[in-house]
Amino acid sequence: MKPYVICHMLSSLDGRIDGEALRAVMLPGEYEATGALLGGDAWICGRTTMQQHFAEAGPFVSATGKPAGPRPVHVARRAESYAISVDTVGKLRWAGGDLDGEHLICVVSEGVPEDYLAMLREKGISYVVAGASSVDLAEALDRLGEHFGIHTLLLEGGGHINGAFLEAGLVDEVSILLVPGIDGRPGIPTVFDGVSPKLGAAVPLKLKSVERRANDGLWIRYEVARP
Ligand SMILES: NC(=O)c1ccc[n+]([C@@H]2O[C@H](COP(=O)([O-])OP(=O)(O)OC[C@H]3O[C@@H](n4cnc5c(N)ncnc54)[C@H](OP(=O)(O)O)[C@@H]3O)[C@@H](O)[C@H]2O)c1
Repeated sequence: MKPYVICHMLSSLDGRIDGEALRAVMLPGEYEATGALLGGDAWICGRTTMQQHFAEAGPFVSATGKPAGPRPVHVARRAESYAISVDTVGKLRWAGGDLDGEHLICVVSEGVPEDYLAMLREKGISYVVAGASSVDLAEALDRLGEHFGIHTLLLEGGGHINGAFLEAGLVDEVSILLVPGIDGRPGIPTVFDGVSPKLGAAVPLKLKSVERRANDGLWIRYEVARP
């Protein structure tokens, strides 16, 4: 049931991913255009990225603070494509069940307040509850495949959610749109962040394709090499 996961990211030569800074050296719309060629039927982002680009301002404030506990998957509707957020305790506020024409699914943990899930249902937003105090990404992926028919999922950042997918062994392919620029500033998110020091060795990759793009960029695709 697990969807095939392609981590698709825009990156400077030094692996930094601050879109604002990269705008100076990228072609407008190229990240989206390359992403569209990957054939995803859904894309997924971490809470910070969703807050920055898509959710309403200000966090959700629960009236009761009562954790929901284990809950069945809520399918508000099936769609041709989905936008998915990973939001451990339900901080993000949403206008409705569609994001840029794609149906919104919120992946949360059992620690999410009950009234957060009620708010999602009222707004016609689907959700998956997976994991006790943090999101169990493997379980969430299985549910997304099973209940929404998602086959190919584009993992689109930021660095921490990408790192968590990588560490859990859930990334099948990495697609990097490398733009001709160097960022170099300290503290800027990178393509994969927050992986445990215990990992100790780089995750091996196998080159799938390299394409020279206009404006001296490169579109590089690697498969994750599994033993
Ligand atoms: N260049 C690109 O292609 C690209 C694409 C996307 C984003 N970005 C940039 O990336 C930056 C944000 O990256 P980020 O790493 O700070 O944040 P992020 O990966 O977008 O979000 C991290 C958050 O996701 C939530 N989360 C839920 N389950 C998680 C899990 N198992 N592991 C890790 N996180 C989990 C956590 O929220 P809770 O704290 O609520 O638990 C965590 O704080 C922004 O500057 C954005 O513009 C760039």
